[in-house]
Amino acid sequence: MNVITTINEMQAELLKQKSQGKSVGFVPTMGFLHEGHLTLLRQARKENDIVVLSIFVNPLQFGPKEDFSTYPRDFERDRALAECEKADYLFFPSVEEMYPTEPSVSVVVKDRTDVLCGKSRPGHFDGVATVITKLFNIMMPSRAYFGKKDAQQVAVIEGLISDFNFPVELIPVDIVREEDGLAKSSRNVNLLPHEREQAVILYKSLQAAKEEIIMGERNPARLISFIKEMITNQSDGEVDYVDIYSYPNLKPLEKIKGRIIIALAVKFSKVRLIDNLILDID
Ligand code: PAF
Repeated sequence: MNVITTINEMQAELLKQKSQGKSVGFVPTMGFLHEGHLTLLRQARKENDIVVLSIFVNPLQFGPKEDFSTYPRDFERDRALAECEKADYLFFPSVEEMYPTEPSVSVVVKDRTDVLCGKSRPGHFDGVATVITKLFNIMMPSRAYFGKKDAQQVAVIEGLISDFNFPVELIPVDIVREEDGLAKSSRNVNLLPHEREQAVILYKSLQAAKEEIIMGERNPARLISFIKEMITNQSDGEVDYVDIYSYPNLKPLEKIKGRIIIALAVKFSKVRLIDNLILDID
């Protein structure tokens, strides 16, 4: 595996590969790889000639009070894991390499951002869309792999690819979970031991809501209260949001019908966790 830290070298390598007719699978990450990322890498490995992983903790997508400085980082571990998964290139630029000057252009996402995480993280998806635009231009991938855990991110990237005509196929990959159901996340290491035990309530409450829907519940407001109550009663976590929208358009619903997302975010003492469930309801 080739570790590359400069944009020029990365672009030149991939231009060379593409000129030989090779397909490029791209897995963008912020590092501290976990099973979820490895699943993306494995799928990319199966479907492409060349696999590129990027590790870049993107300051543009963190708010002033968010965890940019404490976001977990372990490059040597990540490099070993990427090597095991047979990635061909690991792109690991510095902040100065990606943003040498104050940006003169940024991408502003207009739709699908005023709900869920976007509501409580103003500017977050602009930062994501800006860095992904840069990374797509650097990698020129055939396919790009994103985890469904960040379902709003997947919806936003879908809009970015479509609006800006990137010749990239978006591949959303299922959520990978711990044995007890907690969605894998780099941030899980920041849970205190008792919070780690309680955090399974995110998954349990989504499953319980699904059961309610199967039993006939179609009222979004009642389902939202049901989930909030479960989380509040069974953990110290503070509910940031629980919402139900159409997916991927992320529009409010009067009645549970069609493809929907039930999404939630819960704050523990040092970390905020998200999870979701996408369902197709007749
Ligand atoms: O999901 C992430 O880790 C980040 O938002 C991404 C897509 C790598 C952009 O920085």
